Amino acid sequence: MARNISVGRAWAAVARRARLKYLQARWRRARLGARCDIRSGFHLVLGEGAQLSIGPRCVLDRGMTIECFGVLSIGREVIFGHHCTLASRESLIIGDDSLLAEMVSVRDHDHRFDQLDVPIREQGADSAPVVIGRNVWIGAKATIVKGVTIGDNAIIGANAVVTRDIPANAIAVGIPARVIKFRVPQGEPAEPPSDLPADTPPHES
Ligand SMILES: CC(C)(COP(=O)(O)OP(=O)(O)OC[C@H]1O[C@@H](n2cnc3c(N)ncnc32)[C@H](O)[C@@H]1OP(=O)(O)O)[C@@H](O)C(=O)NCCC(=O)NCCS
Repeated sequence: MARNISVGRAWAAVARRARLKYLQARWRRARLGARCDIRSGFHLVLGEGAQLSIGPRCVLDRGMTIECFGVLSIGREVIFGHHCTLASRESLIIGDDSLLAEMVSVRDHDHRFDQLDVPIREQGADSAPVVIGRNVWIGAKATIVKGVTIGDNAIIGANAVVTRDIPANAIAVGIPARVIKFRVPQGEPAEPPSDLPADTPPHES
């Protein structure tokens, strides 16, 4: 039984490597790092002049979509849950060791919508760079919109919509995402954001 499992794992590793080689050959203009695990249903749109780089040992789970028309850079050992979407027109950077749960959406652009008499699809897009730091954990189904920077070690709660910058080490939840506390070294109490009176429950600000 144990032998069957290890044989199965060995075959899975071979299949993973073969798949990565195939994708590297197919997408020569993209840099797909060594030992990345890019699973089935991966959908890549690479525009003319786009710069896509994915660091080594990343995991892109099933059904992930990447649309890259600008710069899109993913660090080392970043893990994406199934059906995540990343879309870059200008610049989208994700730091090493970050963890994006399933169905997270990160885009550095929005449709323009200032003309009422023109279909939104024909109005073009506004973009602003998105930066997600190192060791950031983004909960399932969260959405990160254009122009946002999320600092290193921050945590974004499930289903949040992040519309403003989130500082390093913060834990932010909700729509729009607000900081409820800061991560601190183990054994110390979590810190509330400094702009709240001490007796105010942070998430009610
Ligand atoms: C953000 C998160 C990490 C917070 O964990 P925590 O520090 O243990 O926070 P708590 O459970 O103490 O919650 C603090 C407050 O924030 C609220 N809260 C927690 N997560 C929330 C979320 N995702 N959205 C809205 N409010 C949330 C809680 O209800 C609580 O409010 P209360 O004080 O009124 O009861 C966690 O709730 C979360 O969303 N995890 C992501 C789960 C996920 O997507 N996993 C995918 C696997 S990779």
